[in-house]
Amino acid sequence: MTTLWSHRYAHRTKTLTSSTIRELLKLTQRPEVISFAGGLPAAELFPLKEFEQACRHVLADTPSGSAALQYSTTEGYLPLREMIARHTDRYGIEAKPENVLITSGSQQALDLIAKLLINRGDHVLVEAPTYLGALQAFNVFGAEYVSAPTDDDGLRTEQLEEALRSGPKFMYILPNFQNPSGATLSLERRKRLVAMADRYGVPIIEDDPYGQLRYEGEHLPPLLVLDRETRGVRRDNGYHLGNVIYLSTFSKTLAPGLRLGWIVAPPEVIVKLVQLKQGADLHTSTFNQMVAYEVARGGFLDQHVREIREVYRERRDVMLETLEECFPPGSGVSWSHPQGGLFLWLRLPEGMDSRRLLEAALKENVAFVPGNSFFADEAEGCRYMRLNFSNAQPDLIREGIRRLAKATLEQLGELP
Ligand SMILES: Cc1ncc(COP(=O)(O)O)c(C=O)c1O
Repeated sequence: MTTLWSHRYAHRTKTLTSSTIRELLKLTQRPEVISFAGGLPAAELFPLKEFEQACRHVLADTPSGSAALQYSTTEGYLPLREMIARHTDRYGIEAKPENVLITSGSQQALDLIAKLLINRGDHVLVEAPTYLGALQAFNVFGAEYVSAPTDDDGLRTEQLEEALRSGPKFMYILPNFQNPSGATLSLERRKRLVAMADRYGVPIIEDDPYGQLRYEGEHLPPLLVLDRETRGVRRDNGYHLGNVIYLSTFSKTLAPGLRLGWIVAPPEVIVKLVQLKQGADLHTSTFNQMVAYEVARGGFLDQHVREIREVYRERRDVMLETLEECFPPGSGVSWSHPQGGLFLWLRLPEGMDSRRLLEAALKENVAFVPGNSFFADEAEGCRYMRLNFSNAQPDLIREGIRRLAKATLEQLGELP
């Protein structure tokens, strides 16, 4: 229906649809629903006391109290950028504060990158499946997609040649505990990927919100680091010039309500992103940046992440164990065994549709996200679902998986 407003909407709004996750989250507000749908960290682990103290500290001092409430630079609060640069050094990233732009969550980073790089009709190479929020950010700018297949070790680099030859503008890659599949890109594939990216001249956007949430296995080097090693060190005034832009966030390690993320990129790219960010929101909340810095500094963040890892590892294991109990081997249902992050990825037998199953699951008061939303070509996802294990206590995980198994096995029994 055309209304007074709708015929004035810009062409780019044609691609806008409500996110399935957001719509679902509305339903899962009902207290009787056990939700594995959102990507929410466990709220009971938020360090409230430390935040309270940090707020007092920031506001009690002059000039810091007034600075926290004042406009500030678009690049972000310098001590926080320095802290991020030091922190990422541990992973070999070797960023300087000049390489770091603070964003209002990684989601804003994706939006700014889309604004910077995507012309209508440009092709973006994405994993199949990939992060739904990235597709939403890229769609607005008229992105088209080249979807690359994945398996338990992430992107199948041996099948990438043809996709790269088609000349995508950039690749969007989630190497650690991917959202939604939980898969981690193996070291061998990481090396091959950066070498191929270099050969074909296709830059990589590396999105890494979950890298610190590893529950088993060895830490693997970020693509940004491997890129530098593969291409040989190229520096300009001491700053890294590379083929990879790296994103991360405090959402999964401190609190998503802060809306604090960051981009590590060559300085010339940061300058452009800063200009775009000025048009978007001038800068990320000064107060939130100063408070996050106060909370994180002095080793607290490391200690807190260790605690989160313990709790999430247990929840992942409980979900895996209960799936084993509830889905007999002959059921044809299988799932991923992620080494970290927040998600399991479940595959249904031929003939089932996870969107239809969601309706039945909601009647049993359990929720998940159907796989479709995570594919550039939605039809590819009907046999998959994403399950979040971080946001429910072990008892609720057990009960929720039992309910899910009941709904699934019933629908499976009805198949011709
Ligand atoms: C892969 C990925 N990128 C980006 C984001 C956005 O995170 P933020 O809360 O920092 O905006 C998320 C959130 O779930 C995510 O999973």
